[in-house]
Amino acid sequence: MTAPARRRVLQGLAAASLAPAALLPAGARPADPVPIARRLAANPLLAPFLGVDDRSGERFTAELQTIGRWPDELRGRFYRNGPALFERGGQRYHHWFDGDGMVQQFTLAGGRISHRGRLVQTAKLKAEREAGRFLYSALGTAIEGGPPITGPDSLNVANTNALEHGGRLLAMWEGGSAYALDPSGLDTRGPVAWRADLAGLPFSAHPKVDGEGQLWNIGTLGKHLMVWQVGADGQLRRFQLGESPYPGGMVHDMAVTGRYVVVPLPPVKLDFSQPPGDGPRRFALEPGQPLRVLVMDKADIQRRRVFELPAQMVFHIANAHEEADGTVVLSYIGAPDAWFLDRGAVALMAGEMASAGAVQMQVARLDMTNGRSRVEALPGEVEFPRIDPRRIGLDRGDAARWVLCGAAWNKTPGREGALLHGVQLLHLPSGRVQRYDYGPQAIAEEHVLVPKPGRSGELDAWVLGTHFDAARQATVLNLLDAADISAGPVAQAVLPYVLPLGFHGNFSAA
Ligand SMILES: [Fe+2]
Repeated sequence: MTAPARRRVLQGLAAASLAPAALLPAGARPADPVPIARRLAANPLLAPFLGVDDRSGERFTAELQTIGRWPDELRGRFYRNGPALFERGGQRYHHWFDGDGMVQQFTLAGGRISHRGRLVQTAKLKAEREAGRFLYSALGTAIEGGPPITGPDSLNVANTNALEHGGRLLAMWEGGSAYALDPSGLDTRGPVAWRADLAGLPFSAHPKVDGEGQLWNIGTLGKHLMVWQVGADGQLRRFQLGESPYPGGMVHDMAVTGRYVVVPLPPVKLDFSQPPGDGPRRFALEPGQPLRVLVMDKADIQRRRVFELPAQMVFHIANAHEEADGTVVLSYIGAPDAWFLDRGAVALMAGEMASAGAVQMQVARLDMTNGRSRVEALPGEVEFPRIDPRRIGLDRGDAARWVLCGAAWNKTPGREGALLHGVQLLHLPSGRVQRYDYGPQAIAEEHVLVPKPGRSGELDAWVLGTHFDAARQATVLNLLDAADISAGPVAQAVLPYVLPLGFHGNFSAA
């Protein structure tokens, strides 16, 4: 991309969607901070939403108390990332997604487990710490009187995913640069410029790393849609720039097959003309608009097909693969509306428990020859889908058939309307499910599949993930066996504190 083209792209985005403060109606101030600490007494499940402060780096370091037998051969680092700093200068964010990112690192070594958590030292965080107050408006919170926004990274909270790749630990957010951290101490090195002329362009938070270690990712910026390809050595292989068939829409996740990059484009645009909170909706499906699914040729993203599926909200993809007849099969989590983005994530910040919404696994069959599609919903309230990482990008008989998800199925009093409380493995072809319930006092977070060394079967894997245990008032790291997750954890490690709930993470073998 030439320097003038890059400048135009950045200016376009800043004008289109990165100036929420400027677009808020005059006098539309967020409500006073909600005393979430008071609500905690009534509902101990809310503790992870209290958040951390700038001194978190000193507090969140510990050798963990372990239960059961952690396998000696399970060695490496398990990372998670999520919004964590919600309050500054007496002001509290109104939307869960607004918080500054904190990376969690669990180091597993011969049965010993240690934890370290650090706030990502973004330019935004450092400026606001110095000022003693929030300076920039966020997805759900209007902040007035801040400095001008100079590009996507002015607002970058690096709070969505953490992945070790090519010698870097990447902390990623949807709309800006990936931040590089030092894997050994979690010190922030700074935003990654994959190439000098591409500095500051969005590198989204859901990259996929294929079996050869090659990383694929997207970025969206107004009408622009970018595809990044980074080699296993951390060097940029290729950058492609195209146009979105739904400019300005929210784009969160992507998938790769052997041949294609697949991107769902839910019909949601961010309406910054309305204040957040209990007022009118800010996020809704645009009436009359379908869920678009963009299937692009990896070799040339201009060669593409846009499928139009029934309108749905989509955050996360489980997988995409190509069948022998050329059909692309896409599994994703769909919801009939944008309720969680619009209300659920706001309620959680206000000290009210919320469910994940009406989220279900969907399987779409996309016919590449005629553009037709068929979608089937599978029962169950699920989110945070993950597959065997060895099968990312594989097609036909090699494609993943099992999807690991967080799940909620207990609707008894006291538990209804709350976030996920268990994990489940879903066999896509048959709909068969095996699951484990952490119980009514738990909030289950995303779990990942970690292949067992020297084994190749899809369920020859551990299931690794955290949950918040409200009875203990502690975060717990769990290890289950994918071959029998219904048996529950084979080992656990209990943290001496509560971590903010995270979004996504990855395991990196030692
Ligand atoms: Fe996500």
